[in-house]
Formats: sequence, C-alpha cells, structure tokens
Amino acid sequence: MYKYILKPIFFLFSPEAAHHLAMKLFRVVLKTPIINIPFKRFYTFENPKLKKEVLGLEFKNPVGLAAGFDKDGKYLDILSHLGFGFVEVGTVTPKPQDGNPQPRLFRLPVDEALINRMGFNNNGVDNLVGKLISYRNAEEKLPKEGKVIIGGNIGKNKSTPNEDATKDYESCFEALFDYVDYFVVNVSSPNTPNLRELQDKEPLTKLLSQLQDLNFQKQQPKPILLKIAPDLTNSQLDDILEIVKHTKLSGLVATNTTTSRDNLKTHPLSIEAIGAGGLSGLPVKNRSTEVIRYLRDNGEKTMVIIGVGGIQSGEDALEKIEAGADLIQVYTGLIYEGPQLVKKINRTLLEKR
Ligand code: FNR
Repeated sequence: MYKYILKPIFFLFSPEAAHHLAMKLFRVVLKTPIINIPFKRFYTFENPKLKKEVLGLEFKNPVGLAAGFDKDGKYLDILSHLGFGFVEVGTVTPKPQDGNPQPRLFRLPVDEALINRMGFNNNGVDNLVGKLISYRNAEEKLPKEGKVIIGGNIGKNKSTPNEDATKDYESCFEALFDYVDYFVVNVSSPNTPNLRELQDKEPLTKLLSQLQDLNFQKQQPKPILLKIAPDLTNSQLDDILEIVKHTKLSGLVATNTTTSRDNLKTHPLSIEAIGAGGLSGLPVKNRSTEVIRYLRDNGEKTMVIIGVGGIQSGEDALEKIEAGADLIQVYTGLIYEGPQLVKKINRTLLEKR
C-alpha cells in the first residue's frame, strides 16, 4: 500500500511537506475508531524473542527510529504505534532555531537516498520537555509491553561558538535528564558550521568528560552515547575509541550522514544543483557497516554500538548486526520503503537469529 499508493502521492510534495503530511495522515487514522485497531495491528510485530537488554534497558525489539525524524517529539504518539523498539528524539538545542532556509531536503530516488541541510531546526529543549511530559503521562495508561524506549539526541545552537559548546550540551542534558532513557551527543552533523571539529580529540574529550561528570553526580546516571560521522579515518576512529574508554561512555551511534558524493547514479549536475548537505540512505550503507565493524573489532567488548545508515531491508539490518551493532536505527529507508520496514526487519531478525 505504501509503495504503490501513498509513496507516489507523498512524492508529489516537497520532501519536508510530505514528512509532515504523512505524520498528520497517520494521526487522523489513529484517532479514527474502527480503522485504528487494524492499523496498529498491521504495524505491530511483537515477539518475546526480539527483546534485548542493552544499556541496562529492556528494548522490546532492536529496531529504532534515528534522530532527525521527530526532532521535537511531536509525533511520539504515532511513532509508538509503528512497531519501533525505541525512538530517538532531537537533535535538540537549548534555544529554538529555524535551521537553514528551505529547500533543505532533497530526494535522490535513483539512489534511494536523501540529501539534507536542515541545520538543527527545532523548537528548543523546553518545548521538547513539554512534549515528553505529555507523552509520558499518556503512556502511563499503556501496558508495559506497549512502551518504547526514548533517546534524547542533543546538540548546540548555531550561534554558540565551539568554545562554549559544552554549556549547550550540558543544558540540554540537564533539561532532558528525567524524561529520556539514554542520551546521544551529536557532534557529527555536517549542517552546523564547524560542529564536526568537536569530533577532534581535545574538544571531544573535554565535552564528554564534563557531561559524564554531571551524569555521574546523579543518583542513577543515564547511558550516554556519541554519534559519529562515516567520514572519519581509521586513525580518527582510534581516537574516538580511546575517548570512549577514557570517559566511560556507554557507546557509539554509527553513523550520521556523509559529505561524500561518491558512486551516485543521480546526474552530477543535479547533485551540484542541490549543493551542500549530508547524504543518507543506500549510498552510505557500506561505509556505515565498515565503520561499525572497525569499532567492534577495535573497541572495548562492552561498548554498545547502535548501527544506522542505509538500512532498507531486513538483510541490511542483519548485516549491521553481524558487523557488531547491538541495536539498529532507520530513517531514509522509511521514506522509500514505508513504515512496514520496521515489521519486515523484525521478522527477518526473528527468522535468521
Ligand atoms: C538526519 N540525521 C540526523 N542525525 C542526528 O543525529 N540529528 C539530526 O537532527 C538528524 N537530522 C536528520 C535529518 C534528515 C532529514 C535526515 C535524512 C537525517 C541522520 C540520521 O539520524 C541517520 O544517522 C542518517 O540519515 C543515516 O541513516 P539512514 O537515513 O541512511 O537510515
């Protein structure tokens, strides 16, 4: 139904408009008696064998929604019915910000990819906290097995210079602490000027040490992971692994979007016309798997890896898990394959486990 009816309709709209249209449509369906029950059943795929204990948390299945899809926690009510084991909200920044001017999201259908330069558009952390409180209140009425784990992906405002970045991450961390299950520190988006410089050894060690200091002062510290770019060299990955060990980080999310434009089928002139941004989807799949394998082979055995990048099928998810991922996430695959992707992946994981 998605591929042959909904997708052709959604693709008539700009990618950003289609995103919000799709979510609004799902909300109407979920609020409509009679249709909502088969809808929920259609997307849910529960099996106790899919449960996973990771990061000290119990995931009902290992398939998550990657950051950026629901930056403001606006759609948690819908997403919790689409079969995800976990949803990562954000990237959120302390103050609201508009992000880059539109258009800033582009489809590359022949490559089953997207290019985005959203620039952390979001309503700010206080707004997200409000949404999480409402969601948690509504969730209390759900049976335990209906609950999804929520991750908070945190960033810095564009106007904050890198020297002061730690303050931004700290204020998002403090504000979200009581409302999310784990944190992801995002220093790997290519769309905030100079953000990726925070992946360098010195600033990254400082940022993560300070965040962990805050975390370890809490009665029950929360898992903190770092999200990294697929464009890092092996020597940079070695530095990251050392920092993970040194700062006692829980793990890594590998990977964010790439700035590379290699091996695309889309015409080079079209790519040039799109301009700057992070590329996601099928073209990033192999590199992201390579990074996961490198991290697993060279990192601490207890380090958790969330694998993300170009997962469009159950087999792609399995590949990430075989490379060393404990959990996986999807984003671009949802746009091309539809929300049934979550169920398809879970089914494959169950069959091939
Ligand atoms: C993203 N991604 C992203 N990641 C992140 O940590 N914070 C963010 O705000 C965003 N925003 C965002 C917007 C859009 C439009 C896209 C397509 C992607 C990156 C995303 O979470 C994921 O890491 C990559 O897209 C790779 O996975 P897929 O899309 O190939 O499954």
